[in-house]
Amino acid sequence: QGALELMHIPYTGSGVLASAVGMDKWRTKLLWRSVGLAIPEFVMLDAHSDFDAVEKQLGLPLFVKPACEGSSIGVSMVRHAGELRAAWLAAARHDSLVIAEQGVLGGEYTVAMIGEGDTMQALPIIKIEPATEFYDYEAKYLRDDTSYRCPCGLSESRELELRAQALDAFRVLGCRGWGRVDFLMDEQGKAYFLEVNTSPGMTDHSLVPMAARVAGISYEQLVVRVLALATLGGKA
Ligand SMILES: Nc1ncnc2c1ncn2[C@@H]1O[C@H](COP(=O)(O)OP(=O)(O)OP(=O)(O)O)[C@@H](O)[C@H]1O
Ligand SMILES: [Mg+2]
Repeated sequence: QGALELMHIPYTGSGVLASAVGMDKWRTKLLWRSVGLAIPEFVMLDAHSDFDAVEKQLGLPLFVKPACEGSSIGVSMVRHAGELRAAWLAAARHDSLVIAEQGVLGGEYTVAMIGEGDTMQALPIIKIEPATEFYDYEAKYLRDDTSYRCPCGLSESRELELRAQALDAFRVLGCRGWGRVDFLMDEQGKAYFLEVNTSPGMTDHSLVPMAARVAGISYEQLVVRVLALATLGGKA
């Protein structure tokens, strides 16, 4: 995005700031927390962390991940006491910033966004149901047994409430154009925002096109809309 700005070439999606913040799960959380969006309780880990104390504070299972990776690379689920240190080491191979996060296990959802300013809209929510224990690299790219539900099965009022919250989450990071906001739900139905994707997959079986289809927007229409939103220096 920065290179395109310098060359004065308009580009699709979020600008420099939002794209950079969205790459960084820690700083994304700090912004979301500052505006009162619910996020899973988390602790940053380093070599001096008291791993036993963090396991007790967050409870088990918990998740450990590098702050600036993707595709579930370096992510582990810590199920048993005493395993946190090894999970931190695995994540620290990818990034010096490592997050330990409370496990939120009542369901995983994603909300596709399209538009800018007042016309920005959240598309129907998709529920992701991996056959593996969590949505790991294998489930994302190698297996074909993950199920995607859209409509996602929530009541209409809950769906609209969560779409509006996801839109706020997208906007506060300065995102625009198109993208995806992921959230988790606990067993009581409380939602926790997880992360943003500022350049989500756009194959014909990717999630943004799936949500668009349910909203009555064809793949071709979606692509044309994303392209038409291309700009320079854009903020939500
Ligand atoms: N706190 C959590 N509770 C439950 N499951 C989690 C939690 N954090 C991560 N997961 C699981 O691990 C997967 C990967 O984690 P996350 O989405 O944070 O990173 P990522 O997918 O590597 O990032 P990106 O989506 O940018 O590629 C999630 O899709 C989810 O299945
Ligand atoms: Mg993810």
